[in-house]
Amino acid sequence: MMSEGTLLSVDNVSIYFKRQGGDLRVVNTISFDVQKGEIVGVVGESGCGKSVTAAAVMGIFPQNAYYEGAIYFEGQRLSALTAEQRRALRGNKMSMIFQEPMTSLNPVLTVGYQIAEVLMVHRGMSKSDAMARATELLADVKIPSPALRIRDYPHQMSGGMRQRVMIAMAIACNPALVLADEPTTALDVTIQAQVLKLLRGIQEKFNMSVVLITHDLGLVSENAGRVAIMYAGRIMESADTATLFKHPVHPYTIGLLNSIPKGRHIPLVPIPGFVPRPDRLPVGCKFSDRCGFVEPRCKEAEPELVEIEKGHFNRCILNATASPGTI
Ligand SMILES: Nc1ncnc2c1ncn2[C@@H]1O[C@H](COP(=O)(O)OP(=O)(O)OP(=O)(O)O)[C@@H](O)[C@H]1O
Ligand SMILES: [Mg+2]
Repeated sequence: MMSEGTLLSVDNVSIYFKRQGGDLRVVNTISFDVQKGEIVGVVGESGCGKSVTAAAVMGIFPQNAYYEGAIYFEGQRLSALTAEQRRALRGNKMSMIFQEPMTSLNPVLTVGYQIAEVLMVHRGMSKSDAMARATELLADVKIPSPALRIRDYPHQMSGGMRQRVMIAMAIACNPALVLADEPTTALDVTIQAQVLKLLRGIQEKFNMSVVLITHDLGLVSENAGRVAIMYAGRIMESADTATLFKHPVHPYTIGLLNSIPKGRHIPLVPIPGFVPRPDRLPVGCKFSDRCGFVEPRCKEAEPELVEIEKGHFNRCILNATASPGTI
């Protein structure tokens, strides 16, 4: 439901890749909203459709992909915009932070120039003004000696610093929405925490909205206000973060929670099996072939996403019979 404070609304979106012999649906009728100033976590294992969803919002789809449904940004339907209007939004009002900065940064340009370029393109700044602002942005993302580091090439920086540069580029135009697609996956654990803390600080300072995409439910617990759990292109469960951690109901969510490292002597319990390929999904519940609580009826029809308490949605028929904590 779109309200006054809604910045982004993904409304019944399905995403397809064109294929001979029938297009392949990789995301199936997902809906979620992002309010102004809110961090929403999108969590799921590899291949569940997180990145293609972000690409749909950003309008950076591969040639062979398309979507059905609607995406609204600031109340505007994105599919109604011209290519030029979309380009003007990207980098300016919405931006994206990618997983691997080495492949998203240009190796032959200094990091300072790459940040400055965003400002020259979107804000029409002169090169010298943009470089001065780029230095400030490097300071904002806590890079020491920014006036010197601005002349570095990406390979002269550590992975953590490159990710900070990516954040500086993403926030250069003070966007309303940042899509952070596994922003810290390539970093080691201590650096991950620092980079997230930085992103969080910037988000609060500028009241930005962030979609935090990750396969790590642990990251979301401290950083997101609401969470959507995705599996095989569907939302399986969504709720505000406190509720989801206190009363998880979907067996997939519980499986993800059990696979978060909790301490040196507490064994991890990974979810057995693998995410099925989008063209080999089981009939009925898409998680049924990996679920420890599967019943024959789970394999008959796919459960609907049902609101089980206010703002808490679940796609599992066991919900009615099992109380949280017993499954
Ligand atoms: N260019 C493409 N052509 C065909 N299929 C694609 C393409 N890009 C992605 N897919 C398929 O779409 C599905 C969703 O992919 P997506 O990259 O969104 O997953 P993800 O949740 O971001 O996974 P990861 O955690 O590995 O980044 C996958 O089955 C993937 O194989
Ligand atoms: Mg991805």
